[in-house]
Amino acid sequence: MENFEKELVEAAREVRERAFAPYSNFKVGAALRTKSGKIYTGCNVESASYGLTVCAERVAIWKAVSEGETEFVEIAVITGTEELTPPCGACRQIIWEFCHDIPVILANLKDDTEIVQMSELLPRAFDTKFLK
Ligand code: THU
Repeated sequence: MENFEKELVEAAREVRERAFAPYSNFKVGAALRTKSGKIYTGCNVESASYGLTVCAERVAIWKAVSEGETEFVEIAVITGTEELTPPCGACRQIIWEFCHDIPVILANLKDDTEIVQMSELLPRAFDTKFLK
């Protein structure tokens, strides 16, 4: 991994500590890099009404988009699992919506990493081009 990718994973690792996950005890951190080099982070935020939970990836994207960001180059997702955890289906759709075919760095706390393209995680994605 390049240094700027290690930095992204580190940002995801730090924000993961702030996950609000008392129901699942499954903490997730995400860090999204903009084209201009800025990093937006997110952790999962759960609710006693379980279905209202928001994943780390979407929190990071909502934060960036609400600050006016429109161009993204890479996202890192970290969990405490042995096997690297990919984004859930809902997050794949949202990552595709705002980031298209970016690389996704999967990471865990043991410093294992793997980089996969969004087009691998969400082949034949539904997006705005079908709405024309
Ligand atoms: N979670 C994420 O934050 N991202 C994913 O891509 C998968 C799931 C969170 C949601 C919930 O708080 C916990 O992990 C268990 O599903």
